[in-house]
Amino acid sequence: MKVVLTGGAGFIGSNLAHYWRRQHPEDELVVYDLLTYAGRRESLADLEGTPGFRFVQGDLLDLPSISREVQGADLVLHLAAESHNDRAIQEPLRFVRTNVLGTGTLLEACRHGDVRRFHHVSTDEVYGSLELNDPHRFVEGSPYQPRGPYSASKAGSDHLVRAWSETYGFPATLSNCGNNFGSYQYPEKLIPLSIIRLLRGEKVRLYGDGKNVRDWIYVLDHCDAIDSIAHRGRTGTTYLVSAQNERSNREVVDRILRCLGQGPDRVEYVADRPGHDRRYALDPTRIRTELGWKPSHAFDEALAETVQWYQHHEAWWGPLLPRGS
Ligand SMILES: NC(=O)c1ccc[n+]([C@@H]2O[C@H](COP(=O)([O-])OP(=O)(O)OC[C@H]3O[C@@H](n4cnc5c(N)ncnc54)[C@H](O)[C@@H]3O)[C@@H](O)[C@H]2O)c1
Repeated sequence: MKVVLTGGAGFIGSNLAHYWRRQHPEDELVVYDLLTYAGRRESLADLEGTPGFRFVQGDLLDLPSISREVQGADLVLHLAAESHNDRAIQEPLRFVRTNVLGTGTLLEACRHGDVRRFHHVSTDEVYGSLELNDPHRFVEGSPYQPRGPYSASKAGSDHLVRAWSETYGFPATLSNCGNNFGSYQYPEKLIPLSIIRLLRGEKVRLYGDGKNVRDWIYVLDHCDAIDSIAHRGRTGTTYLVSAQNERSNREVVDRILRCLGQGPDRVEYVADRPGHDRRYALDPTRIRTELGWKPSHAFDEALAETVQWYQHHEAWWGPLLPRGS
């Protein structure tokens, strides 16, 4: 099979590239990535030069380039995106360009390029925010209520994929997942940033009261879910991916502190982000019952492994820290 993976130099994408080479070594795997600040070719270093693997630097919005690469593909896995909420507040149009126009351009390239199957990776943030005490979780039919430029641009991309599926019979599946953690995550997101600050003797910073809750999943469990959906999911269908690990930011940081043998005095609270969603929670019943997928990593152990990965990979993250820090 020829598989094209967009955004494969990013956090989830590079984990998925490694996962795919292990699980499907017979496939030809093409990683297509613009290499923005978040795309790190070094995250794929051990795959480069191996048979059946190819890296292409290119923009989703470059129609001739992306058309060339997806032509005749058996499967396109679409992960390329602008993904960081804080940056979305500073530069919203970049998010509209990449996430909305980029996805539209890719869909056209795939539709005209005889792509046999397409999987779109999205986020739980499109559903808006839950109260801490709300007994409900998001389900596939929950209304879209994005509250920030990142989630709105991802919502736009989801709508485009569904529209291509309905209008053109384009063979697409979609998934919406909670917050991922693991190796190769850019040190601007909560878990890698907190680990690295502690390793450097700095304090961890928590937004607001630290009680915002996220639905955490270890990145390799997410990769496994994408694999299940791309191979066995019903086209035209959305699957919610959750390991049902609801944790507040404070709880996550406490666990990291424990892994590093440090105490609560290492935490400081900073002014909250505008429009900061309070809580996300997903109901994964459909993917569990239809596809038999379930996570295979326990949160605490996977987080401890992640802490160790950052302890041992300063050569990867050191050059990514802001200059002079
Ligand atoms: N990280 C999470 O917790 C999470 C949770 C749910 C869904 N998602 C979704 O999963 C996908 C991957 O997220 P991530 O955290 O790995 O993101 P990331 O920011 O680490 O990686 C994104 C990748 O996309 C590439 N890219 C950006 N613009 C591009 C363009 N115009 N053309 C080609 N490539 C481009 C970047 O170079 C980078 O390699 C995104 O679609 C994101 O919305 C992420």
